[in-house]
Amino acid sequence: MAEIARDNKQMQKLAEELRLAGKRIAFVPTMGYLHEGHLNLMREGRRRADNLVISIFVNPTQFGPGEDFEKYPRDFERDERLASEVGVDTIFYPDATSMYPPGYQTYVTVEEVSRNLCGRSRPIHFRGVATVCTKLFNIVKPHEAIFGKKDFQQLVVIKRMVKDLNMDLEIVGVNTTREADGLAMSSRNSYLEPEERNSALSLSRGLKIAKELYDRGERDASVIIKAVRDFIAGHEHTDIDYVKICDTETLKDVEKIEGESVVALAVRVGRPRLIDNYVFGEPLDIP
Ligand code: PAF
Repeated sequence: MAEIARDNKQMQKLAEELRLAGKRIAFVPTMGYLHEGHLNLMREGRRRADNLVISIFVNPTQFGPGEDFEKYPRDFERDERLASEVGVDTIFYPDATSMYPPGYQTYVTVEEVSRNLCGRSRPIHFRGVATVCTKLFNIVKPHEAIFGKKDFQQLVVIKRMVKDLNMDLEIVGVNTTREADGLAMSSRNSYLEPEERNSALSLSRGLKIAKELYDRGERDASVIIKAVRDFIAGHEHTDIDYVKICDTETLKDVEKIEGESVVALAVRVGRPRLIDNYVFGEPLDIP
């Protein structure tokens, strides 16, 4: 079974001992309620390093008012078993007051890349993510940290932060893990009612439409966006937050697809707000 560290100092001491012994530490930060997508990040970490640490912490500072912080699904016992099965050495499992004790007042803001896409409807989200990841990196002291590409903007924000603040670790992005029918895995899929499940597929199928248009030579972002929006809007229970095509590094909207670009979308399907994305030119495994 994986060892559990609940205390920041205990985790820091363990990380320091590993480093002094010349071991490489890979780290997968999570909010728990693990699914196959998380487990694939852990398998990647297992391959890359001597020691694999994950964190399970539902981070309050990345949820805005009225979002699902209280209701976010949690099941530590199951998470502990799944993590142990894929060979996690240590689970860092702090509580909220040890991460944010009374008097806490320091936040990390990554400016421009946090603003577009999810930053529009979730204005404090990436400040919370950047802050908690900074704290976790200081506690776990990893040589590399592994993130899923499903949260594309999060990955860009974290890479930017690590570069800008000279943090001494490598950020690794891993491809999105999908259900057999194409739905990107997410802990929030557990909120979907059975009748909404089919509508949730409109996200990945919408990306496939974008890919097909691109592959046939379409480079006008507005044409692709309209086709994807119309397709998703044609499904019951969907409410589109955004469909955008952006430069993969700056995350600024592009009108013509020239450099490396991503089509990213966020759609409320019943209760959950789901996200997905596709980088043009890459393979996309959607039936
Ligand atoms: O992707 C997530 O689960 C979270 O945003 C993260 C990176 C664990 C920070 O709380």
